[in-house]
Amino acid sequence: EKGTYPHYMLKEIDEQPLVMRKIIQKYQNDQGELTIDQEIIDAMNDADRIYIIAAGTSYHAGLVGKQFIEKMAKIPVEVHISSEFGYNMPLLSEKPLFIFITQSGETADSRAVLVQVKEMGYKSITITNVQGSTLSREADHTLLLHAGPEIAVASTKAYTAQIAVLAILAEVTAKSRGIELDFDLIHELGMIANAMEVLCDEKEEFESIAREFLTVTRNAFFIGRGIDYYVGLEGALKLKEISYIQAEGFAGGELKHGTIALIEEGTPIIAIATQESVNLGIRGNVKEVTARGANPCIISMKGLESEGDTFIIPEVHELLTPLISVLPLQLISYYAALHRDCDVDKPRNLAKSVTVE
Ligand code: F6R
Repeated sequence: EKGTYPHYMLKEIDEQPLVMRKIIQKYQNDQGELTIDQEIIDAMNDADRIYIIAAGTSYHAGLVGKQFIEKMAKIPVEVHISSEFGYNMPLLSEKPLFIFITQSGETADSRAVLVQVKEMGYKSITITNVQGSTLSREADHTLLLHAGPEIAVASTKAYTAQIAVLAILAEVTAKSRGIELDFDLIHELGMIANAMEVLCDEKEEFESIAREFLTVTRNAFFIGRGIDYYVGLEGALKLKEISYIQAEGFAGGELKHGTIALIEEGTPIIAIATQESVNLGIRGNVKEVTARGANPCIISMKGLESEGDTFIIPEVHELLTPLISVLPLQLISYYAALHRDCDVDKPRNLAKSVTVE
């Protein structure tokens, strides 16, 4: 039930700190360490390459998951859109492991790939919010999101839950391989839950950002570099699906290869800047588009901020920033849709689970 909330989407955005804490609790053992079913960790270690298969928001979570698994556990990862994989299968490695990311566990495009790779004899893990769902039943292993039912069509808490569970999977796998990490994931996730709470308490801020940048515009572009680019893709999907603003996410460096031609007087550009290694680069992009008349909305992180930034998120470990930086984008999308009188929880032409290919 949505209780006092006007929309499920807002309620689900607000639940994210609780979901983070629930995930920490569910994946912790009596010794206070993160733990995952040994069979899953063995499957990770037996693989010479991991293939993440997903659609929509879950695909965007997969792009972040690839960074975790490669940087923490040092196993190569490819991320594929389910619907493309079926007829465009890449040349597989010798010992592939498939990870399906699906909130509903019912997405037909993803299931079609699972059926195909099972026939080929490969192992699979489903990361899902729904115990007993089709993809959970049909895969060899399941990791649950523990996010509670997600009712709004636009996925919010499932995305951050997917990223948290992927981080835990990467951490436990890394430890099993004797790899030392430079941070304590349980501690970081706890800090992230607190930081999420702070952002959820600043809703008026995001309402006014949405009003300033998105009330009348026809389009909006999200830019970022590295992991911020993947969050930009998710921000653009959120905005387009509920506000019907034509929104696209781009890698900052790609702007000059085409997209910059679309910049007009007042075009909103939402830039995400949470990565020290690419901060100069993304700041350069903001200058380029501003010089051409764009209206820049800059979401940066404490420690990397510059004068004129629109919103500064609290500082978190550089790998885990998507868990925080996506919240402003979710809230801005929500308010943009509200200001434009859109049906936030049930956008036109969309269904919560897409059970046809
Ligand atoms: C976006 C959204 C969709 C789903 C996609 C996959 O807000 O909800 O893009 O992420 O249809 O759904 P699942 O994760 O259930 O496989």
